[in-house]
Formats: sequence, structure tokens, C-alpha cells
Amino acid sequence: MASFDIIILGGGPAGYVCAIRAAQLGLSVAVVEKDKLGGVCVNIGCIPTKALLHSASSINLIAHQAKDLGIEVGAVKTDYGVAMQRSRKVSEQNSKGVEFLMKKNKVTVIKGTGTLLPGKKVKVGTDVHEAKKAVVIATGSRVKGIPQIGLDINKTTVISSDEALFLEAAPKSMIVVGAGAVGSEFADIFNAFGTKVTLVEALPRILPIEDAESSDALAKSFKKRGIAVLAGAKVLKATVGKDSVTLEIEAGGEKKSITADTVLMAAGRAVNTEAMGFKEAGVQLTDHGFVKVNLATLETTAPGIYCIGDVAGPPMLAHKGSREGAVVAERIAGLKPHPIRYDNIPSVTYCHPEVASIGLTEEQCKEKKLDYQVGRFPFSANGRARASNETEGFVKIIRDKKYGEILGAHIVSGHASEIIHELAVARENEYTVEEIDLAIHAHPTLSEAIAEAALDSMGRVIHT
Ligand code: NAI
Repeated sequence: MASFDIIILGGGPAGYVCAIRAAQLGLSVAVVEKDKLGGVCVNIGCIPTKALLHSASSINLIAHQAKDLGIEVGAVKTDYGVAMQRSRKVSEQNSKGVEFLMKKNKVTVIKGTGTLLPGKKVKVGTDVHEAKKAVVIATGSRVKGIPQIGLDINKTTVISSDEALFLEAAPKSMIVVGAGAVGSEFADIFNAFGTKVTLVEALPRILPIEDAESSDALAKSFKKRGIAVLAGAKVLKATVGKDSVTLEIEAGGEKKSITADTVLMAAGRAVNTEAMGFKEAGVQLTDHGFVKVNLATLETTAPGIYCIGDVAGPPMLAHKGSREGAVVAERIAGLKPHPIRYDNIPSVTYCHPEVASIGLTEEQCKEKKLDYQVGRFPFSANGRARASNETEGFVKIIRDKKYGEILGAHIVSGHASEIIHELAVARENEYTVEEIDLAIHAHPTLSEAIAEAALDSMGRVIHT
């Protein structure tokens, strides 16, 4: 029986970051991983989709803007298979990078499926390993269909992101069910590669967890590019054929049928908690199926067993999992880490334009009956955005009227994912909108729109 200070189940962004931080603190660490290191994010999630989205935005740029930018090109031809192969290479590089980091930090990687045994033990195959200090569950999540309405993932006509990432060619037509981050990103990708895309969302607007103004801006942009957006649309029934799928949909009190070659399921993910001995080891689940975790300590209901990442509860985001990984490693090592601010985790959907946010939406401010003021700045009035021909979108900052605290911030723009962090730092340090403006912003930059929105929330905007 091998023994380690910490055994981590799962080598995704939560698990591998936990391993590195624990190793930095002098603990002996083993990561149990049945597949490639890097988890969903690196292999079949965040990273390959970003590679495909880069292809998609390049296609849109070349097809629609080349002439204006002084570039002459012939008819634009696209090849999803080539873009897919490039995205695979990017994923492989990242997964190899994680392998290298494990070696560099002297983390033992155990290949196989780990099962929890009572008493902080983990069984992999016939070997039993013992954790002296703690076991950390970081087993992540997986795609899911909606079998109740006949939408089971059959990997041919009804696919998930797992299959979409390996297609050799873009389908002629596709219905994307669910307009969260996954659905919106794939709608964007396949539209650019010439697929006739219909995006179906049950709630009244796409990206329903974002501020309504962000959802509306994205829906407008999608529609302009030919994506059919059906929000407030309930899928009643699916008829799955060999070469096509027909969905019966009810939207605005009316029923209609839509047919496509392929349906891409993007209606949420299921967490991986089954058949790993959790129950027997005393690890309880919540009513929603996540592992029950004390958020102050990240400990489960079984002493000495911790849980991080998607399986520990929403938001299912790589960066949330990584932060939990680092924090739990420090806690197990006996440090007192800075508590995680779950209300200050940036959310980004990387379609075009990108949608990024942090903190409360305006709808949430209303629900909470907060006394707030909204500041806005459109990128159409920003010099850098004009120079780059990317004037879609805006910055919206919601500030507390009395204290100037930044309650929430929402950005829709080509580079929203990169500029949201100014607001994350500001909120982490409880800076006010005044302090955002006091920090001089370089000109011309997209970030100036943040300073301008901050000024606007105080009624002092300069450039609109
Ligand atoms: P999600 O839960 O974010 O969105 C699923 C959407 O499907 C919801 O808007 C829901 O209302 C809708 N839906 C559910 N059932 C439906 C039905 N029968 N008909 C029509 N619409 C239906 O799930 P998603 O997009 O699959 O992502 C899973 C997780 O992974 C999320 O937590 C997400 O934040 C995370 N993720 C994050 C990314 C990012 O940060 N860029 C990228 C991809 C995923």
C-alpha cells in the first residue's frame, strides 16, 4: 500500500492545481486520473472550444471585413476538419503541459479510476493507496441529454460538445438545445463554418444568467449573422431519425416543428459522483446531486475528505475549481488561506462578441431592492474599438448609490474576457467607481470604456 499526504481524485483544473499547490507546500501528492490530464477543460472543453472560436472569428473577419481592412481575398472557403485538427493539437499541448507540471512538482500520477474506501483510502485497480492527511474529490462533470423528451445523446444525430469537438465536417444544419455558455459558443462556431444554426432556449432569453442587456446584445448579434434564436421555447418532443432530428417546440403559445441534420445538446451537465464509493465512505450528496460541501472549509460530510470543482457545486467553471484547489491545498497544509469570494467569480462566454460579467445583474439588484445607479459606455464611442472595427457591445457598471461600491459589471465586446479582470480586482479590494476612474487608463484602449462607464454611473461621462 502506497501512502501520500494527499490523494486527489481527478486531474482537471481543480485537481491538478490542488496537486501543484500542495506539492509547493512540501506535501507528498498523488493524482488519480483515468483519462488525459487536464480534464474536460483542457481536452474537451474550454481550450479546444477557444481554438475553434478563434477559427470562427477569423472566418467572420476575413469574410465580412477583409475588404474594408485593405485585404483582398477570393471567395472564403472553410474546413471544419482542419480547424478541429488544430484545436486537438492545442489541447494536446496543454495536456502535455499539465503532465510536465506534475513531473516538475514531483506529483505521482496514478492512471485508472479511483474508488474511495472508508478511512481516507483510495483503490485503483487492485492497488489500495492511503492518504495520511486528506483525500480531495475533483471528479468533475460530464455532458447529459434529456432522455425524458427523446433527446438521448446517440453520438450521430444527437450529439454533445464531446462529439462536436471531433467532427470532421460542419453539419449542414444544427439545432442547439440550450443557450448557456456551451450552446452559445457552439452556435457561434458552427454558424461561422456555414451550418444553418437554430439556437433553442427554454428560458425567455439566451445566456439567461447574464444581465438582460448582455443577452439582448448577443441575441441581436447572432440574428444579424443568421443564427435563428428561439428563446422561451420549450422542446416538447423529439423524433430522432437516422439522418435528421425533428423537434416539436412550443414558443409564445404556438407549436412548431423544426428539423436539422444534427441536434447539439447543451442543456447543462451532470456531475460525476457514481460508482466511486462516495456513499460508503460517508460522502453525502445535495438534493441537486452535487457533493455536499462546507464552503468555508471545502470539507465533505466525511472527515478528511474534501471536494472541489464542478462536482462540489456551481458555478461549473474551471477558474472556480482551480481556486478551490489552491485554497484546499493550503488548508490541508495547515495554512489559513484567504476565503473564496464566491460572489466575485468572473463569468465569460467566448462567442463573438464575448459576454463577460462579475457580481450582480441589474435584475438581481432590483430583486434585492438595492439602491443603485447604472453607468454605461458603448464601444461605438471608443476610439480603439473603432480603429479595430469592433464596435459591437458596451460596458455596464452597476454601482451602489450611497457608497459607490461596484455591485456588478457587464461587458459585451470582442475582448470582454480580457478586460473584465479590472473589475474583478476592484471588487476583490472593495474599490469604488471613483477609484476606477482615478486609475489613469491608457489611451486608446478598450479598458477606457470601463473608466467611462464608471464615470457615467456618477453622471460624469466624457465621451458620450
Ligand atoms: P448551462 O446550465 O449554463 O445552460 C444550459 C441552458 O439550457 C440553460 O440556459 C437552460 O435554461 C437551457 N435548457 C435546459 N433545458 C432545456 C430544454 N429542454 N430546452 C431548451 N433549453 C433548455 O449549461 P451549459 O451551457 O451546458 O454549461 C454547463 C456548465 O459548464 C455551466 O456551468 C457553464 O457555465 C460551464 N461552461 C462554462 C463555459 C465558459 O465559462 N465559457 C463554457 C462551457 C461551459
